[in-house]
Amino acid sequence: MQAQVNGIRIDYHDEGHGTPLMFLHAFPLNRTMWDYQAQALRNRFRVVIPDLRGFGNSGVSKEPSLMDQHAADMNKLLGSLGIDKAVLIGLSMGGYIALAFYRNYPERVRAMVWADTRAGADKPEARNGRLKAAEKAEREGARAIADEMIPRLLGRTTLETRPEVIERVRTMVEANSPQGIAAAQRGMAERPDSNDLLEQVKVPVLILVGSEDTLTPPNEAEAMKRLTAGASLRVIEGAGHLSNLERPEEFNAALLEFLNALPD
Ligand code: MLT
Repeated sequence: MQAQVNGIRIDYHDEGHGTPLMFLHAFPLNRTMWDYQAQALRNRFRVVIPDLRGFGNSGVSKEPSLMDQHAADMNKLLGSLGIDKAVLIGLSMGGYIALAFYRNYPERVRAMVWADTRAGADKPEARNGRLKAAEKAEREGARAIADEMIPRLLGRTTLETRPEVIERVRTMVEANSPQGIAAAQRGMAERPDSNDLLEQVKVPVLILVGSEDTLTPPNEAEAMKRLTAGASLRVIEGAGHLSNLERPEEFNAALLEFLNALPD
């Protein structure tokens, strides 16, 4: 399915009935990273899973893909689907976007799941690294980005024992355009610090993190929990940064428990 929002094509999956769940994917992947969650939840919830601008089958723009821009895209997409309020489930970059969405459209958020993400902005060194990575994507293509990122995206256990997961992630990364990858890196480099926002969150929050996540390690998740009143935290043992596809059963169980406990 496709929608035209804010001058760009957003390709999305929309299936099922009930409380709407909007899944926001990580960098530099696409919406198929949520396939296990869609399969597990579509019989009980409405699952909306977009390819974010610059990724998958969605359109690409040259400008940096700012988190506010992604949030504005998602707001328009929800509007076009007739959805007033959704549970936002974001992993890593998807988590940055969930925070930007909550900052801009709090009335549209029923609850949030922040997986393998952080609230802080980039330090100057990390920011520089992103700008260099954006140039590398443009110069050398998506395969070079896959080579560089896969060892960091996946946990030690997955890297050592699950070649099929490595292959799946590689396929997703390599299918993206270098322009989309570069725009996303430049957009993430600009993202503001959202720690102030955590103290103002008034909806239920579940924080998930893989025990082997080295990009946004468990101590980042704990820091988010400390600032967010009422948030709960679950560590997914044996998973790295892509906890939802490294340990889907454990991830889904924690997610389902949280969703089932949401007040009406
Ligand atoms: C992601 O998984 O979305 C990325 O690791 C986010 C980032 O580069 O900060």
